[in-house]
Amino acid sequence: MVRDTTVLLDERRIFEPSEEIKKRANVKDWEAEIEKGKNVEKYWAEKAEQFEWFKKWDQVVDESNKPFYKWFVGGKINLTYNAVDRWIKTEKRNQVAILYINERGEEEKITYYELFVQVNKLANALKNLGVKKGDTVSTYMPMCPELLIALLACIKIGAVHSVIYSGLSVGAFVERINDAKAKVLFTADGTYRRGKIIDLKPIADEAILQCPTVETIIVVNHTGTPIEISELSGREIFYDRLLDGEPSYCEPEQMDAEDPLFLLYTSGSTGKPKGVMHTTAGYMVGAATTLRDVFDIHSDDLWWCTGDIGWITGHSYVLYGPLLLGTTTVVYEGAPDYPDPGVWWKIVEKYGVTKFYTAPTAIRHLMRFGTRYTNLYNLDSLRILGTVGEPINPEAWMWYYKNVGKERCPIMDTWWQTETGMHLISPLPVAPLKPGSATRALPGIEADVVDEDGNPVPEGKGGYLVIKKPWPGMFRTLYKDEQRYKDAYWNEFPGCIYKAGDMVRQDEDGYFWIQGRSDDVLKIAGHRIGSAEVESAFVGHPAVAEAAVIGKSDPIKGEVIKAFIIVKEGYELKTQLIEDLKKHVRYELGPVAVLGEIVQVDKLPKTRSGKIMRRILRAQEMGEDLGDTSTLEE
Ligand code: PRX
Repeated sequence: MVRDTTVLLDERRIFEPSEEIKKRANVKDWEAEIEKGKNVEKYWAEKAEQFEWFKKWDQVVDESNKPFYKWFVGGKINLTYNAVDRWIKTEKRNQVAILYINERGEEEKITYYELFVQVNKLANALKNLGVKKGDTVSTYMPMCPELLIALLACIKIGAVHSVIYSGLSVGAFVERINDAKAKVLFTADGTYRRGKIIDLKPIADEAILQCPTVETIIVVNHTGTPIEISELSGREIFYDRLLDGEPSYCEPEQMDAEDPLFLLYTSGSTGKPKGVMHTTAGYMVGAATTLRDVFDIHSDDLWWCTGDIGWITGHSYVLYGPLLLGTTTVVYEGAPDYPDPGVWWKIVEKYGVTKFYTAPTAIRHLMRFGTRYTNLYNLDSLRILGTVGEPINPEAWMWYYKNVGKERCPIMDTWWQTETGMHLISPLPVAPLKPGSATRALPGIEADVVDEDGNPVPEGKGGYLVIKKPWPGMFRTLYKDEQRYKDAYWNEFPGCIYKAGDMVRQDEDGYFWIQGRSDDVLKIAGHRIGSAEVESAFVGHPAVAEAAVIGKSDPIKGEVIKAFIIVKEGYELKTQLIEDLKKHVRYELGPVAVLGEIVQVDKLPKTRSGKIMRRILRAQEMGEDLGDTSTLEE
């Protein structure tokens, strides 16, 4: 959904950083750092020095086979070694690495040493199960320590993980596991959500029947649901039992810088979800550097990113970025408003969170309660705030700034994607801020706005967001689909530049104002979902002949789904069928697919070749001009 930021904003209002922020900042001079970043190779090579390498790289970036870029060519490294093992040789050994908290007020503190032992035991256990370098391991887990341990263990032995968000359901699950050909699955009995236990295992049980590659299912008894060993199927094993008797040291696999690290499925505008593939060294450099510089991480920080590990935000900024920096990361399992909408602020006060990173949809939701809850708690520990996932409207920005940050904490509006792996457009804490703008490309990154033909557009005019130089955290391909990788991202504009899929405008100071997606990807509460996936879920129902979906704006979630349905003969879209359809789509895709409205139509606007023109439906919905209709069938 493209929004017109020009009418909403007062761009002259600029928020300067305080003296305190400037004094502490790792990067003190924004302009100078951007200037430094213009020497891309030197800039990222210096950042890569922060890690322990088994062997240093021979070449920083190899652009000889565009768009299959390579970073830190010839280097040998292991992410888990750098995120865990490295710290136990230092004073961080007994520092808390993971602070797990849930909505029931329970907590678990895992030090770097304890994490080291657990990861090694599990890594050994995985080896015993026959998991080897390059094998894929999937997870379908709640936000709990075992999920983080599982991912770190995979990486320690060179296995490639593929996380499935626990809010996705059977259809989405099967598609992802089968595409990735996962050998092992980690799952759990359930997860805590708003005072209830949401069962996960029954979904996994049902889905797994259609996943022939999975040899072993490792079950975490997270919520304590009584499960007898006799209830497990032949290929299931309890997580705890698996670790029994395993040694607490496992040699890290010496990974090539370009060895695959993980797959993460995300939605595109057409077809099935895309298996975004990230590789080892460049991703590490990108995630750690951006976290340190954008959120100004120091050794006394308590970092909390509320994102779920099921999405890229959780990968880069709940798990890998923080542990690579040796900081403490808060892992929270629960909703932002349970037991009451003060729960997050209570945690900030109780533990002294210093840096807090969340999504605009959560801010808009909490904003409805005014200052009642933000005033109940002392939020003085906070120093820097952040947002991610969708454009933040200035009203929400101001509420966050005033009531959470108490006008002391700068807000880092970070623009990035599953594909980019790391922040690309974002302020640094010392930058002057304009509410609603992600400001400028980070040092070492070159972003621009172009028209349909790839020509730069004049200042103030909207266009397509492109990234003109490779960056270390970039994805390397779409799993088993190099052609789609090239076509969807690199072939659109001349010169092999990256098409992000967002519309954007740059103002007179070069600040970027992201306006929304340029394709048929929906952003529902910050979650990314493709129109085509939702349509395919609809037509999987026996009553539906055809379906088209678009995003409909929603004050809290940003967008929800509006579906236009042609029903088959003998069916009518009455209350019962609407309920059935809702259930069906939820079964296929999970609660992320929030249905706002389902309407019955006789016809859908199509091109002569039969492609649904969602653009026409969107224009109609917004009461706008239909634009060019020459390709419309009738
Ligand atoms: O449309 C942009 C929006 O989220 C998309 C990427 O979604 P996903 O791969 O799920 O990753 C989300 C978390 C990194 C982008 O194409 N988006 C992300 N951050 C912002 C944003 N839109 C505006 N402002 C942002 N800060």
